[in-house]
Amino acid sequence: MTNKNNSLGWKFIDNDSTFVLNNPQKSSYLYFPLVNEAGMMSAITPTLHGDIKTSQNTFLMAPVSSEDLHNSRAARNFWVHIEGEGAWSATGNSSKQLSYNFNDEEDEEVNLEAGFLWHKVTRSNKRIGIQAELTSFVPANDDQVELLKVTLTNTGDQNITISPTAAIPLYARSADDIRDHRHVTSLLHRIFTSSYGIEVQPTLSFDERGHKINHVTYSVLGADQNGESPTGFFPIVEDFIGEGGNLDWPEVIVKNAEPHAKPGETFEGYESVGALKFNTATLEPNQSKSYIVALMITDDRPSSVNEIAKKYCSEEQFDVLLEQNKADWKNKLNNLSFQTSDNDFNQWMKWVTLQPILRRIYGCSFLPHHDYGKGGRGWRDLWQDCLALLIMDDPKKVKDLLYNNFAGVRIDGSNATIIGSEPGEFVADRNNIARVWMDHGAWPFLTTQLYINQSGDIEFLLENQTYFKDTQIKRSKDLDLEWNPEHGNQLQTENSDTYQGTILEHMLLQNIVQFFNVGKHNNIKLEGADWNDAFDLAPELGESVAFTALYASNLKEMSELLLSLQEKAGVDELQLAKEITILLDTISKPIDYDVVEEKLNLLDQYFETCSHKISGEKTSISIKELAADLNSKADWMINHLRQNEWIKNEEGFEWFNGYYNNDAEPVEGDHENGVRMTLTGQVFPVMGGVATEDQVKKIADSVTNYLKDEKIGYRLNSQFGEIQQNIGRGFGFAFGHKENGAMFSHMAVMYSNAMYQRQFGHEGFDVINSIYELSKNFELSRIYPGVPEYISEKGRGMYHYLTGSASWLLLTVLTEMFGVKGHLGDLALEPKLLQNQFNEQNEASVFSYFANRHLNIVYKNKKGLDYGAYQIQSISLDGQEVAFESKQKAVIVSREVISQLTENENHTLEVVLG
Ligand code: G1P
Repeated sequence: MTNKNNSLGWKFIDNDSTFVLNNPQKSSYLYFPLVNEAGMMSAITPTLHGDIKTSQNTFLMAPVSSEDLHNSRAARNFWVHIEGEGAWSATGNSSKQLSYNFNDEEDEEVNLEAGFLWHKVTRSNKRIGIQAELTSFVPANDDQVELLKVTLTNTGDQNITISPTAAIPLYARSADDIRDHRHVTSLLHRIFTSSYGIEVQPTLSFDERGHKINHVTYSVLGADQNGESPTGFFPIVEDFIGEGGNLDWPEVIVKNAEPHAKPGETFEGYESVGALKFNTATLEPNQSKSYIVALMITDDRPSSVNEIAKKYCSEEQFDVLLEQNKADWKNKLNNLSFQTSDNDFNQWMKWVTLQPILRRIYGCSFLPHHDYGKGGRGWRDLWQDCLALLIMDDPKKVKDLLYNNFAGVRIDGSNATIIGSEPGEFVADRNNIARVWMDHGAWPFLTTQLYINQSGDIEFLLENQTYFKDTQIKRSKDLDLEWNPEHGNQLQTENSDTYQGTILEHMLLQNIVQFFNVGKHNNIKLEGADWNDAFDLAPELGESVAFTALYASNLKEMSELLLSLQEKAGVDELQLAKEITILLDTISKPIDYDVVEEKLNLLDQYFETCSHKISGEKTSISIKELAADLNSKADWMINHLRQNEWIKNEEGFEWFNGYYNNDAEPVEGDHENGVRMTLTGQVFPVMGGVATEDQVKKIADSVTNYLKDEKIGYRLNSQFGEIQQNIGRGFGFAFGHKENGAMFSHMAVMYSNAMYQRQFGHEGFDVINSIYELSKNFELSRIYPGVPEYISEKGRGMYHYLTGSASWLLLTVLTEMFGVKGHLGDLALEPKLLQNQFNEQNEASVFSYFANRHLNIVYKNKKGLDYGAYQIQSISLDGQEVAFESKQKAVIVSREVISQLTENENHTLEVVLG
């Protein structure tokens, strides 16, 4: 990684990945997350815009999409009326100050400093002689509160007299009400003032839950540094702004009006603002004064709001909570860090490490680009986010989550698509649309395999779990009208008992059903879509060759895992639902895999046996025979793909066709509008060993030629040149954006992972390096450190923070680039670091967590060799030589060796390369 320092962009200033950015307000669309485990979820911009909420139905500030960040005036504001000067906004949100962004004569100096997870903006105006420092964070405790401290300093040489007013618009209701009775729902507002602030408690909630009594209360409370309460309030928006005014130029501020309300008053039926006016104060030169503001969401009106105000609105307490918050996040991120020659990369990766935690809390909702989300989590994302959680902490802590998720699998191999926040809470679909994503069945195996490899807990495969049941049957091609929703969401046996099968049985079904579920060209049907949600218009004749490759490798690896299960757990026979034997045709009644109809008929036969209930009878199957059945299926698929889907175009490039469209035509290859190619179509054949080594080389060349773009990196697809009504809505997007040819980080990282897995270390590195360079090129990407969902045609980083690519990036850097991974519980090491990634001492290291021990794994490359030229020569643990075993290109250190180490201490594993 090159060490280009971009003076326009952010810079890391310490070893805790704290960064600074000058003039952050001059970049639009920037936002930063503030959050805690209690579910307070905020987004904050350099002008303290954004929103604050705990769910789709409980927004303290009005929900914002990315465009609202500059168009809406409803930002957190902190006004200062300065004698002789007039209104000045400490956050920069005044009509006057906004014009400064394009006016160099009266510039304000604005700097941002941010870390895990706090946000500080300093704004100063030399002419006036005032500086404001605004620090925001969400404390790491059980409350749903965001805190803001504003410190005003007189930077001039004359006394200044200030009258400050905190002003945070209190939307106080469900996001749905923005376009559904916004005015009518303001009539529900009951507004209360008390000594320290304003509470809004709507009487009812009008949203999709019906018209229910509401208790949730939204408050803005504040005090100065001495704990002194505000002098009064302006609780109603229309009175605050005045006729003809607005939130960027409110009449009461401009005119320095007397407060409209004192403590103990009630107002009804208006849009509200948490406007708290503080006493007028005079600041001598260099003198500062601080104010603390708490923005809270509580289940009800607190019995003693003054007590809460005292708890939060104190400078001392603010500082204590801020330090606690920093320590808490540091602790959360402590288990993983990388040391390469590029310190910026090392620190940037810390921000990537944060991202899976953010996705766990926010889901794919609640940050400004994610305005479609309503909370809850999608099936695919859930499983992939677990990948990162498994390497960041004790995998056993994630086990329950995995176990519970399996209860979302249907007996036809499909699954519920949305997962609620409680274990075992599933919904068929957010919009009640019967839709099956054909890739969903493939992810649980990858995650479970990682769990087993990291923990050694192979017996997890034998634990019993229920199946999800609703009206959808035969992969949503039919309805079970006999099913009675009142009987719950679990599959029953003929005797009306709840049916349970092993975790292994669940995964078998997810993968084997797909083996038979093929289209005209004998690849797996695309159904509702695959990983690419925007390939959603080919449900009849579409096929995903890409995911056929992933299912093929899953079947192969599952067959190997079964043999390990036999060896490690001494199990020779497995109990499976009797009905499943139909699908194990090599054991029961072989069919001809080349004939599509035979596959589909067999699948229909199976579906008929379990459409309403299942017999409940189990059959004993030998592990060996089962493994052989899976292996023969996988081999058939691999041969089929190699023989039928490998294409060569007129320019002589070769790669895999990844899809068939709804007219059953291959999607990739030469076309009159230009060569058509997808990255997804290449990733899975490479990753799963479907592509031969020679094919991998050719794929790498074709990808470089058709998909790599100097400016935006590895594109998701080439330019198709027209909308594709027979593939999906994605082609309606402009080329170079989102799922149509952007650098879509998730697939690009998986491409890197696949290349590394196949020993193409330089290619793997090049992809990660390009994502990193694009993301940190602030002049174009305009995002804070971290990986965005995609890089647009202009080079802008989009949908920052909440992206599955972060999990894959972390996984790839740890398990492929550094080559540190579990192997059935043992530790496998297979570094693929390039020579320039080692530092001046020829070392590169990763601090990681394995077998509940903190290990600093240091690779010593004394001879300065490049990847491919070095091998592991010796290993020592805390100075003692350790024995290891070689397995293909990796070396294995037994788990026992690591488990003997003391817990809660750091240990050094030195690995000499030569
Ligand atoms: C998003 C979705 C992911 C989907 C992808 C492509 O990617 O979360 O499920 O597969 O779009 O449609 P992400 O933002 O996670 O990178």
